[in-house]
Amino acid sequence: MGAAASADEAIPQDIAAALVDPACYADHRIHDAYRWLRANNPLGRAQLDAFDPFWVVTRHADILAISRQNDLFHNADRATTLTNKAVLERVHKITGQPNLVRSLVQMDAPDHPKYRALTQGWFMPANIAKFEPRIREIARATVDRMAAKAAANGGVCDFVADVALGYPLHVIMEILGVPEADEPRMLKLTQELFGPQDPDTARVREALSAEVFAAMLQAVVADFAAYFQRITEDRRAHPRDDLATVIANAKINGEDMPLHDRTSYYMIVATAGHDTTSSSTAGAIWALAEDPAQFARVKADPELIPGLVDEAIRWMTPVKHFMRSATADTELGGRRIAKGDWLMLCYASGNRDEAVFEEADRFRCDRRPNRHVAFGYGAHLCLGQHLAKLEMRILFEEMLPRLSALSLAGPVKMTQATFVNGPKTLPIRVTMA
Ligand code: HEM
Repeated sequence: MGAAASADEAIPQDIAAALVDPACYADHRIHDAYRWLRANNPLGRAQLDAFDPFWVVTRHADILAISRQNDLFHNADRATTLTNKAVLERVHKITGQPNLVRSLVQMDAPDHPKYRALTQGWFMPANIAKFEPRIREIARATVDRMAAKAAANGGVCDFVADVALGYPLHVIMEILGVPEADEPRMLKLTQELFGPQDPDTARVREALSAEVFAAMLQAVVADFAAYFQRITEDRRAHPRDDLATVIANAKINGEDMPLHDRTSYYMIVATAGHDTTSSSTAGAIWALAEDPAQFARVKADPELIPGLVDEAIRWMTPVKHFMRSATADTELGGRRIAKGDWLMLCYASGNRDEAVFEEADRFRCDRRPNRHVAFGYGAHLCLGQHLAKLEMRILFEEMLPRLSALSLAGPVKMTQATFVNGPKTLPIRVTMA
């Protein structure tokens, strides 16, 4: 681990620098870096002073191969998202672990399947179908609000602020059982957790020192912990038919879940589902606003909506990466990976892999098959994928018939983040039917 990369495996410095630069994710330069890597060094090694060395996995086939071998490539042994050395050191001092939280994402067998089994049934299509009528009501109210905003503003609104941010948040909070009045707090905490590199959402706006950055994340986790402890006490005393009741009362090996694991569980459910779904939802509207012919097609044929949803998730790929680490020496793609090596699975690159997707950069709502890896793959495959797709389908079923014209009304701005990113502002001009 940490040995210098040989000449053919080393990634050029400018490309490696792009991978760790949040600004490159906001202005799309990251796709130039991915394209270069897929063509020239699909399993290369990045060596940058501020980071431990890491392998960069950019081809679809290699992402699948690593994700399906959960014994050989662990989640929990090292940081699960790309983190610089200084922050890693602080996190380790705070928790004694490579990660601040211990949710499903930061677990491996034997714990991971036990914890995942607690809520897996909740997220299956057969169970979440019962929320469809309520989700449809929320979608209708969301479209009404958007129409009112646009009407009051010459037909223009910001799709992110007025629709994409609030809608998935509201859905997951209802399913989890968090009262509506607390939603702004949850949104802010999620943005601080996932987007602390973006100057608009960071608690501290000037360039962050590692100490400030780690302390800020710790404060966010502490806020979540305090909030969900109250929810736990309430659901133990007064169980309800919500997901919080399942988590509050869950037993692991016959015992209550340890506090840190429980907070982490609430946090992953509360946070994983809205910034991600918001970004894909905004991605669909962005693509349709730029392509009137495709907008007309999907409006005329609602059967294209599930394809629109899948393509928006592929095209936007809100989760840009997760990290894994090797548990033994192995060989992959002609490279010798050593035990302990850190690997970056670049989902957003796999989803533009020319070997799998024709016209990979183009948004095509009739793309079939659409075997994207935006939800990951293998044992950690996104637990909320059916919910995300259900929410998006229902929103577009409600919105598209009411939209008779859609176009961009200004430049789209993306969040600056190397982990989860997507549109930050998406000004659109609409005519409502
Ligand atoms: C895991 C993406 C929506 C809950 C993941 C992973 C990805 C992902 C890439 C990691 C998979 C891996 O490591 O192999 C997305 C995207 C979404 C989305 C792109 C929206 C478009 C949701 C929603 C929820 C959710 C709505 C519901 C609360 C989770 C959970 C995990 C997870 C709990 C951890 C699963 C595990 O480690 O076993 N998601 N997600 N996600 N997601 Fe999602």
